[in-house]
Amino acid sequence: MNKVSQEIMGMLGISLVLDQAYFKDFFEQNDSILRLNHYPPCQKPELTLGTGPHTDPTSLTILQQDQVGGLQVFADEKWHSVAHIPGAFVVNIGDTFMALTNGIYKSCLHRAVVNTETVRKSLAFFLCPKLERPVTPAAGLVNAANSRKYPDFTWAALLEFTQNHYRADMKTLVAFSKWVQEQESNNKLIP
Ligand code: OGA
Ligand code: NI
Repeated sequence: MNKVSQEIMGMLGISLVLDQAYFKDFFEQNDSILRLNHYPPCQKPELTLGTGPHTDPTSLTILQQDQVGGLQVFADEKWHSVAHIPGAFVVNIGDTFMALTNGIYKSCLHRAVVNTETVRKSLAFFLCPKLERPVTPAAGLVNAANSRKYPDFTWAALLEFTQNHYRADMKTLVAFSKWVQEQESNNKLIP
């Protein structure tokens, strides 16, 4: 998975007219998370969600969903079901990559629904930066037409924020950026 994500990072670099090695180098040393989701059937699926709407705080997600299906993405003002394609992974951008590209790549809003009949399982691999490495956009992606969107931060700080202060949702990066700026101004007040 690490290798696949590095290859994707190479292509994402090319797509932004950065060097192919740019994100590969950035993520050569990295942190990663593997999560197994298990969604039991539910008698009233219309009253609940397996996973509420959120963007992944991480950088790149590679997800394997089983044949039951249930993943949905929000695009063009509505929810779209992501079909299970045998042998295919679902790949999506997370908040940390959005910050690294100064908002050019957007983290993708998604959720998972449940059904009355069948257990559903999915396996998600999340690529994240090395814990203490500063997350700062590539110089070429900040300019007069696209001014700086987010403060510098570390994945360690965003991880702590989502685990201890805030539950990941559709506004995580904005809420986190505000929190980082507040922490910085508090630190300046302490002599
Ligand atoms: C996640 C997630 C969706 C799914 O683990 O972050 O969004 O289909 N999972 O299980
Ligand atoms: Ni997710």
